[in-house]
Amino acid sequence: MARVLLLAASGLARETLASIESTGDHEVAGVLDDNARLHGNMMGSVRVLGGLELARGRTEQLLLCAGQGRHRAAIAGRLALDDSRYATHAHASAFLGAGTRLAPGCIVLAGCVATADVSIGRHSVLMPHAMLTHDDRLGDYATLAAGATLAGSVQLGDRVYIGSNATVRENLSLGADAVLGMGSALLHDIPAGETWAGSPARKLYGSRAAG
Ligand SMILES: CC(C)(COP(=O)(O)OP(=O)(O)OC[C@H]1O[C@@H](n2cnc3c(N)ncnc32)[C@H](O)[C@@H]1OP(=O)(O)O)[C@@H](O)C(=O)NCCC(=O)NCCS
Repeated sequence: MARVLLLAASGLARETLASIESTGDHEVAGVLDDNARLHGNMMGSVRVLGGLELARGRTEQLLLCAGQGRHRAAIAGRLALDDSRYATHAHASAFLGAGTRLAPGCIVLAGCVATADVSIGRHSVLMPHAMLTHDDRLGDYATLAAGATLAGSVQLGDRVYIGSNATVRENLSLGADAVLGMGSALLHDIPAGETWAGSPARKLYGSRAAG
């Protein structure tokens, strides 16, 4: 069983730890986080061993557990480690249909479904019960919150965030860093960097950190 380190002592890290412990696909060796006050503390059954830089000298595989895609991207950019250093994790209850590909670093939590020929980019996170249907394409560092649903042939750019229980109509594209609010019904493409919400979803604002 491969040993992994979780990077960032976040809520997502606790969820990922629980998911791995329930699935038994990896052994979690510990957590790394730059907050020195956490070093030596326990996070559930594992210890916070030290800062993120420790990852360079360790032999375990890694999972980026910062909740926001742009934070996962920042950590990956700073460490500049080869993709082969990163694990993937999918909870045992996730259904990954034929032709579905998970790139290195992906985390797929309980009850997610990818029906067929779904492509999920590096370090993307699917929270519980996210539903992806045929031919969806996710860029790197995408995040789907719990219950988010993508109809067929949807394209998500890098670091896109889809809020919980939001739904995206088929064949739409969301540009890099786009955000869709929780509970939204999206009927139009979202340009890069914009935040939309509502049912039907409308633009809230342009580039601004959110999600
Ligand atoms: C869309 C979102 C990113 C906007 O956050 P924000 O920038 O802090 O925006 P605000 O809360 O200031 O809201 C701005 C306006 O948008 C509206 N709004 C915010 N989120 C909305 C949503 N999901 N649906 C409809 N309207 C929404 C607010 O009512 C407000 O309208 P008003 O100006 O008329 O009062 C956020 O509300 C959201 O939905 N985040 C996702 C949360 C989520 O899914 N978490 C799951 C974690 S697992």
